[in-house]
Amino acid sequence: MRIAMIGSGYVGLVSGACFAQFGHDVTCIDKDADKIARLRKGEIPIYEPGLDKLVADNAKAGRLEFGTSLHDAVAAADAVFIAVGTPTRRGDGHADLSYVYGAAAEIAKSIAHYTVVVTKSTVPVGTGREVARIIREAHPAAEFDVASNPEFLREGAAIEDFMKPDRVVIGVESQRAREVMSGIYRPLNLIQTPMVFTNIETAEVTKYAGNAFLATKITFINEIADLCEKVGADVHDVARGIGLDGRIGRKFLHPGPGFGGSCFPKDTLALAYTAREAKAPQTIVEQVIEVNNARKKKMAQKVIDFCGGSVAGLTIGVLGLTFKPNTDDMRDAPSLDIVPALQAAGGKVVAFDPEGMHEAGRILSGVTFVKTAYEAAAQADVLVVITEWHEFRGLDPRRIKEAMRRPRIVDLRNIFDPEEMHGLGFDYEGVGRPQPRT
Ligand SMILES: NC(=O)c1ccc[n+]([C@@H]2O[C@H](COP(=O)([O-])OP(=O)(O)OC[C@H]3O[C@@H](n4cnc5c(N)ncnc54)[C@H](O)[C@@H]3O)[C@@H](O)[C@H]2O)c1
Repeated sequence: MRIAMIGSGYVGLVSGACFAQFGHDVTCIDKDADKIARLRKGEIPIYEPGLDKLVADNAKAGRLEFGTSLHDAVAAADAVFIAVGTPTRRGDGHADLSYVYGAAAEIAKSIAHYTVVVTKSTVPVGTGREVARIIREAHPAAEFDVASNPEFLREGAAIEDFMKPDRVVIGVESQRAREVMSGIYRPLNLIQTPMVFTNIETAEVTKYAGNAFLATKITFINEIADLCEKVGADVHDVARGIGLDGRIGRKFLHPGPGFGGSCFPKDTLALAYTAREAKAPQTIVEQVIEVNNARKKKMAQKVIDFCGGSVAGLTIGVLGLTFKPNTDDMRDAPSLDIVPALQAAGGKVVAFDPEGMHEAGRILSGVTFVKTAYEAAAQADVLVVITEWHEFRGLDPRRIKEAMRRPRIVDLRNIFDPEEMHGLGFDYEGVGRPQPRT
């Protein structure tokens, strides 16, 4: 199959490279000429484990190309995937669909034979129909179908998720489009991946329902963690105790500073907006958004309280800035709430993140970036763990203690063992963990 991927960001680039690995001929298009120039030189503009090799192998095999103009790629394609951004629209919280509709209008002009135009971007219900309308209006003679194929990959594990998904959801409404989509995902038949074929609206709603459910699960355990802190219970044991119930499941029961990232915040907002418009308000999701926003703000206060009510004049060593480990993505990261609030309270922030400092440097001001976690510890009056990078779990608490003037840690990801930390003489506070009995 020949595939054109419109948008070569986190999703477009990973999807394009993985489709090439399936054996298809893929052209990844992006408006960002700098991004495409780097990709053509073999540079990967984002941090995603394994992506560099996948791109290099498939480019070398002649199955993966990059360009800034979609015309030739679309004209030759059996399927065109739209993988452009759908950020939150300013003002009302709805998804900004201008990139999707802009791409649809451009694609329309270049359709040269039967083509399936697939929305891979996360889009509110009704978008697929509007994409079809835009194409029909711009090119009435075009032979095409639209399809919805939402993406469920997780940044940091994106390739594994794409190549071995739990399921593939495909919204199609013609046999011809279904055959094209089945052909594209045929390699997954070997590993018996469930294919969920639906109508277009169902596929669109499924993506938002999935993200809203996961965001709800995180928010639920975060509130249980607050309760645990007040009553001397341990949220880790509670999470294990409920998570082993097969109806609940163990994943997404890790308490922390609130969900962030490029998907959950914007997708919960967009779902709430769509649902209000449809007169079927999602009150649980609305509450999740509110609780989560408040939680991110509360985390700075947790650090301030831990320091005795003030961080004025203190240096706060921050470990981790990205919204989760194994990515350089800073979109809606909890650190973007926590760091400025600590600075506003008079603290000086020294930070280390394995991959996110370049991006963080563009967004956060007044932060001193250092090269290692130990360097941050050496300068800090208090350390705050915001992202649970694997390498932080391997830090030697004794070395941290030696480096610090006064060993104090607020661990917003519970990467350290409270008993061990207290035993070593740290002032230590996690999330939802009991304080030692005195
Ligand atoms: N990031 C994730 O983990 C993830 C997971 C699942 C779904 N999604 C969804 O996938 C979509 C893309 O997300 P992302 O994180 O890859 O975004 P991104 O911002 O990293 O990438 C989008 C790219 O599209 C390009 N673009 C915009 N308009 C264009 C046009 N007309 N022609 C060519 N290129 C164009 C931009 O330059 C940018 O490089 C969003 O809807 C998102 O919600 C993201």
